[in-house]
Amino acid sequence: MVKKVKSSVTYAKMRGIVSYFTALIKEKKFVSNDLMQKFGSSHPIYRHLDSDGFLRPDDGLPVEGGATALCFSNPAIQESSRVSAADFDYLKVIGTGSFGKVLLARHRETDEYYAVKVIQKHTILKRKEEGHIMCERRVLLRTLNHPFLVRLHFSFQTRDRLYLVLDYASGGELFYHLQREGSFVESRARFYAAEMASALGYLHSLNIVYRDLKPENVLLDSAGHVLLTDFGLCKEGVVGDATIRTFCGTPEYLAPEVLQQREYDRTVDWWGLGAVLHEMLYGLPAFFSPDRAEMFKNIMSQPLVLRPGVSAAARDLLKRLLHKDRTKRLGAKHDLAELKCHSFFSSIQWEELVAKRILPPFIPSLSGPTDLANFDPEFTQLPVPPSLGMCEGTGMTFPGFSYMSENVDTASSHAKGH
Ligand code: ADE
Repeated sequence: MVKKVKSSVTYAKMRGIVSYFTALIKEKKFVSNDLMQKFGSSHPIYRHLDSDGFLRPDDGLPVEGGATALCFSNPAIQESSRVSAADFDYLKVIGTGSFGKVLLARHRETDEYYAVKVIQKHTILKRKEEGHIMCERRVLLRTLNHPFLVRLHFSFQTRDRLYLVLDYASGGELFYHLQREGSFVESRARFYAAEMASALGYLHSLNIVYRDLKPENVLLDSAGHVLLTDFGLCKEGVVGDATIRTFCGTPEYLAPEVLQQREYDRTVDWWGLGAVLHEMLYGLPAFFSPDRAEMFKNIMSQPLVLRPGVSAAARDLLKRLLHKDRTKRLGAKHDLAELKCHSFFSSIQWEELVAKRILPPFIPSLSGPTDLANFDPEFTQLPVPPSLGMCEGTGMTFPGFSYMSENVDTASSHAKGH
């Protein structure tokens, strides 16, 4: 089982579980007592989550897995009877994962486009049985607000499925473009790396560790800006056997301390950024070997070998980000601030970047909102299950799951026409 340092909360989990745990806010309002005991109520995570009274520990209730739960009040998130699976037309599959599918969907009334992640309940329930860590990490998060993070607009459920309605990133996965082009010129890689770094620094400022940075999780919006997505309700690789299998399967972007199941902290994300930057510049993951076991070994113990062909600044940054000792990794002391000072990023004006005032180096060509040229036909050719829009009752498995974001109109207009 992977051990984490106590301040580590993965972004993927928090984003993914936020809707799920709305169930625990609405009527029962839980947080794991274990978590509370481990972190203490003054832990930064609670400060973040409760920055303006969003979460208020209340009375205790038992939850599955033997953990005692505390109650939270959350006036901001409300059960929505107005949004349901039947309100959308499900147009195409644009992604798949172990959790289920991501579909391009159009809201029937507003004509707005969203990416809807559809998750089979039984998958979640199975994982819940497997991993008590999930139960221990029942934490809630208000919608994160950063230009380079995918936002959640609504969630609802049917008897068998959970639906997460997200910003639609019509530029598709960065990975798809990278695969097609082989590698990116340095200025393009720098732009994406800077936007990713900015999003990661924001998460870190909230004491959230993203942990799963890899090209598949990096999307592009219609203008060509980065949007990090969670890509998975609950990542494999945290609990039990699945941890080891998953890590053996895709070690490319995982820091040595994660692979070795040692404690890790936010610096895993700077390793992940280094891994993605390496792939953008060289077209292959760092420490690559076609033999997985070999690659695993390389990550843990082989020195980083960087071929010529990229600038000295880029190579220096890669060496510093892909430092095996996390305490010596760039970002270990002052996080994003250290990266900002690196010569590779000297041309980046960070405030302009976050304001999206830097023209992206590549603007996805789109003939219209339903143009799926930026998505892998491997996904888009998959059939759309006709039952997706059917509301056959919610069942009681995830009571209170459904909600709308606080400011639906504002949030929705963000996605319109993309
Ligand atoms: N694939 C996974 N999430 C996505 C999203 N939000 N937009 C487009 N494609 C995605």
